[in-house]
Amino acid sequence: MPIDLDRVRAATPGVDQVAHLNNAGAALAPRVVTEAVVEHLWRESAIGGYEAAAEAAERTDAVYASIARLLGASAQEIAVVDSATRAWDMVVYGFPFRAGDRVLTARAEYASNAIALLQLARRHGIEIVLIDDDEHGQLDLDHLEAELERGAALVSLTHVPTNGGLVNPAAEVGARCRAHGAFFVLDACQSAGQLPLDVTELGCDALSATGRKYLRGPRGTGLLYVRGDRIGTIEPPMLDLHSAEWTGPDRYEVRGDARRFETWECSHAARLGLGAAVDHALEVGVADGWQRLRDLAEQLRRELRAIERVTVHDKGLVRGGIVTFTVDGVSASAVQGALSRAGVNTSTTTPSHTLQDGRGLPATVRASVHYYNTGDELDRLLDVVSAV
Ligand SMILES: Cc1ncc(COP(=O)(O)O)c(C=O)c1O
Repeated sequence: MPIDLDRVRAATPGVDQVAHLNNAGAALAPRVVTEAVVEHLWRESAIGGYEAAAEAAERTDAVYASIARLLGASAQEIAVVDSATRAWDMVVYGFPFRAGDRVLTARAEYASNAIALLQLARRHGIEIVLIDDDEHGQLDLDHLEAELERGAALVSLTHVPTNGGLVNPAAEVGARCRAHGAFFVLDACQSAGQLPLDVTELGCDALSATGRKYLRGPRGTGLLYVRGDRIGTIEPPMLDLHSAEWTGPDRYEVRGDARRFETWECSHAARLGLGAAVDHALEVGVADGWQRLRDLAEQLRRELRAIERVTVHDKGLVRGGIVTFTVDGVSASAVQGALSRAGVNTSTTTPSHTLQDGRGLPATVRASVHYYNTGDELDRLLDVVSAV
């Protein structure tokens, strides 16, 4: 069903202020999200933080069920943390690596994950193997298969990179990992909320995502899925009295569900906001949103290509809402600055955030569209870009 644009825009106060094309940075939150956060903060100030948490306990618990619904998982397989990076870290740093283990990664890998893998390589003597792209610019499945046949303990894939519209073939990667018994971690930071995700179809053992991007949640939130039968195999790198129980002077027991990857202290307000964002995404319909934002992004690419001096850089067989481009003779930050002065939010990409991209791209302008954007907003961007 097509998105009811008037309805979703009426539910999003920020659309009256800016043309927000920085959804891959942090999207505009719907009113229900801000209200959930602020109302809880008011309750904390009115009755006390612990008391407000107790009062909201059922609603906080429901956040796990909502995330589970979004991903086709069960609530026991979900942890709520404070960023996508921490979610990913908890699993990968907790993975029982042995010296010589091979870890397969791809060109779209996000800098924080790549840095962590380098640290783990120094710590455990694991070998990091880079899977190349195919002729479409997505992960090369034949190369992956060949490396899986040589043996791999873990495969790490960034579903949608920070620097472009590419959607990597995650389900095809998952199927191959399953067949070879490799642990598959999917960084869904940019894809969660952007396109439908089902952990069974994806075949992933773990999936990490952030709240603030396409899910439209508050900053400082992240989520983690770990497949039920894998939870017990990953001991979190750090424990506390929430993730484990102190059962004797020299003993502790790590809890059995995915909340072993959380810490006791957290922002309850942000957590409730994340739940409201996920509920909103489910209500709007992720598949319908995906359809609309893809169409908008393709329209933007087409119209940008028609402007002299503009080069669009997105690649891949499937492309989503992130549109990256450069303008000959004008730096990405100058273009972004001109857009910002005209009330159009975009961002720029930094080559070191996807260092193994392989194309030698300079910084690019990143215009990332969401389903609530309009053709008029794209026109505002195009007018500025034509004139810089
Ligand atoms: C692909 C990808 N993975 C991971 C992250 C890290 O997310 P967070 O800042 O929530 O840790 C980002 C952030 O931009 C990202 O684009």
